[in-house]
Amino acid sequence: MEKTPLRRSRAVAARARPAPLEMSPREFRSAGHRLVEDIAKFLDSIAKRPVTRSGTARDIRARLGGGRFPKRGKPAGALLREAAELLFDHSLLNGHPRFWGYITSSAAPLGALADLLASAVNPNVGAWILSPMASEIEAQAVGWIGEMIGYPAGAGGLLVSGGNMANFIGFLAARKAQAGGENPRGGAGGRLRAYCSTETHTWIQKAADLFGLGADAIRYAPVNADFQVKPQELDSLIEEDMRRGDRPFLVIGTAGTVSTGAVDPLRELAEIARRRGLWFHVDGAYGGFAACLRDAPADLAGIAAADSVAVDPHKWLYAPLEAGCVLVRDRRALKDAFSFHPPYYQFGTEQEDFVNYFEWGLQNSRGFRALKVWLGLRQAGLEGYRRMIARDVRLASEMFRALDAHPEIEARTVALSIVTFRYVPPEMRGRGAEAREYLNRLNAQLLDRLQRGGEAFVSNAILQEDFVLRACIVNFRTQLEDVRALPEIVVRLGRRLDSQLRPREALAD
Ligand SMILES: Cc1ncc(COP(=O)(O)O)c(C=O)c1O
Repeated sequence: MEKTPLRRSRAVAARARPAPLEMSPREFRSAGHRLVEDIAKFLDSIAKRPVTRSGTARDIRARLGGGRFPKRGKPAGALLREAAELLFDHSLLNGHPRFWGYITSSAAPLGALADLLASAVNPNVGAWILSPMASEIEAQAVGWIGEMIGYPAGAGGLLVSGGNMANFIGFLAARKAQAGGENPRGGAGGRLRAYCSTETHTWIQKAADLFGLGADAIRYAPVNADFQVKPQELDSLIEEDMRRGDRPFLVIGTAGTVSTGAVDPLRELAEIARRRGLWFHVDGAYGGFAACLRDAPADLAGIAAADSVAVDPHKWLYAPLEAGCVLVRDRRALKDAFSFHPPYYQFGTEQEDFVNYFEWGLQNSRGFRALKVWLGLRQAGLEGYRRMIARDVRLASEMFRALDAHPEIEARTVALSIVTFRYVPPEMRGRGAEAREYLNRLNAQLLDRLQRGGEAFVSNAILQEDFVLRACIVNFRTQLEDVRALPEIVVRLGRRLDSQLRPREALAD
């Protein structure tokens, strides 16, 4: 077709004007170098910053500015600088040496660079042909994770966003393997039921509810004084349900409970599941990686007997969020549960020796989260991870000792790297039930002050109806002096709060 002057000038304009999201190599280099420089300074200063500057949602929104969706764009470099400043100054710094809240680790700096590289190449790790090297890197990382926790070679597995998702995949693989496509609320075989301890993380409620069983399909077995499930009692629940005509399909053990770090007797649970012909899933989102320690708790070895296991690289592998991982002993179970073949995907078949990850899990398009995990595994190596995890466990014991030594602190539990404790004013020691309500209130408010104060960050647990504070160390930046500083902070804030809260007259005598 002959070009008219109008067509020609449009073509020239299309060539001359870069897309609004394009960056010239020069601009990219300059903005990128500056960002890396700013991040390096931020990481270098993290221990000197407060863990958090707190501030209400209104304060943060005001700092962000209530701007409208811009009509026209701005240069990328300036935007990045602005975003970095907002984030460095108004985030809760979980990479701070005194951050011990929930179960969020300090993130390996290499992971930040890995995410940059992963995004730059941007493979879609849903299908092998869309991500040849990335898919193989993911397979290798998952294989090494299995090796690290002593899981049998040849298992199937993939990376997901975190512990909840990894557990969901184990749950769905179990449901498919045990009940096919039956109505989970009462097919021919009866109502499906899952068995776990009262300490199980809330993922199980979401799974049972979302995947059609109903949250009341979960049967909770009690725990012993160390918060580990009582296997005999769990077995009795199975027996009871079978007699009633229900259909048990899944036994769940936890390797490192969210509240206290307790490890269930996994070998005994595996044996119950085997004898009863049920699927055995282990939630090792937090504690699973401790199985790599040379002196790992004996109960952890049972993780190898599970049909499926969830572990979280964004916890004890120190990968930046998000990275969870599920392993399934018989990889065919993943395909059975998740593989569909729509006509518009020509990604190769089962016969080929590669994995299309969209057939193994819930996601279709998938990002390259494997890169940060794989690079971390290579940077630290197995021995490096052993050293870091063992150190966290030792620091937790040291923290427990330091807290226990203080007369105004009641140190409650220590397991893996979780410590629980509470502040108890001296004259309220041993007052039993009468003081419970007040101590619960006192410690709940103390938690709030600690979390807002910026000196150290912990979270909480409820143990036998007592509100306790809880520190979980998955932090390679924490030093001995940090854990030893905690009792003084707790007592200082606790005393101040107690003097404001306590109706002295009522409790003095
Ligand atoms: C034992 C356990 N399971 C599952 C989860 C959920 O993991 P995520 O927050 O990565 O989804 C957690 C989180 O702390 C956990 O401790």
